[in-house]
Amino acid sequence: MSRIVYVNGEYLPEEEAKISIFDRGFLMADAVYEVASVLDGKLLDYAGHEARLARSLGELEIPMPASPEEILEIHRQLVTRNGVEEGAVYMQVTRGAADRDFAWTADMTPSLVLFTQAKAIVASPMAQRGSKVISLDDLRWHRRDIKTTQLLYASMAKMQAKAAGADDAWLVEDGKITEGTSNNAWIVTKDGVLVTRQLSNDLLAGITRASLMRYAAEAQISVEERAFTVEEAKGAAEAFVTSASAFVMPVVEIDGVKLGAGSPGPVATRLREIYVEESRRTAI
Ligand code: PDD
Repeated sequence: MSRIVYVNGEYLPEEEAKISIFDRGFLMADAVYEVASVLDGKLLDYAGHEARLARSLGELEIPMPASPEEILEIHRQLVTRNGVEEGAVYMQVTRGAADRDFAWTADMTPSLVLFTQAKAIVASPMAQRGSKVISLDDLRWHRRDIKTTQLLYASMAKMQAKAAGADDAWLVEDGKITEGTSNNAWIVTKDGVLVTRQLSNDLLAGITRASLMRYAAEAQISVEERAFTVEEAKGAAEAFVTSASAFVMPVVEIDGVKLGAGSPGPVATRLREIYVEESRRTAI
């Protein structure tokens, strides 16, 4: 069945949706995006995604394509029109179309595209068995705090992980893990402390990361925001990643080294449950 998608003011069947070949999103990856998850037909952590979109656009001097109220309404329309109970809404804003030139002008009209993806996130087979990761050099640009559509290196790293029989890659710079290809990396120390890298231009400020930090504090679980090495991660009690599309996903193997029993640990499993419960409660 064809989806209804949104392109620059119109709701259309996906086959009819069109973007100019001169769009800088297409030519230059001059675009930012957000992915908000849907559970029970409602949007999770929406305020965080809305705020991060505004920040990403501000950093690139791309104007907001519509008001926050309009953007929320488009999300809701797409969820309803496509009958999405569980899945995600993908939103992309590009600087718009102009004859190809490295320089842009301030008067460009941004493009706004949204579509839904229906999929099971709570009942994920990977959450049952845990994810295996390999470590790879982080060869991305140095403004990873901006959620741009320049995802080629992340895709290549994911492919390299799959070719090595793993599920994903953790990216390493100056000996420390920055983040996963499309998620934030966490470890659980033998003392039960959660460790995740402090925010900077080196990684994306994950919305799921921020929510989980609040939920951990409420559950009296300590969190340390600091960088950690691959060696420390291999010796950790547990590890996991967070993202809108995976929630809290246990990591059970790093570079072929099993963590604990090599199956999802109790802390990651509990945090996943808390995340699902709390996000359902606060969904809009
Ligand atoms: N990825 N780091 C990177 C590089 C990411 O691409 C993402 C999200 C995250 C986690 O952010 P959040 O918790 O706000 O989803 C961290 C999305 C889900 C994607 O590209 O599909």
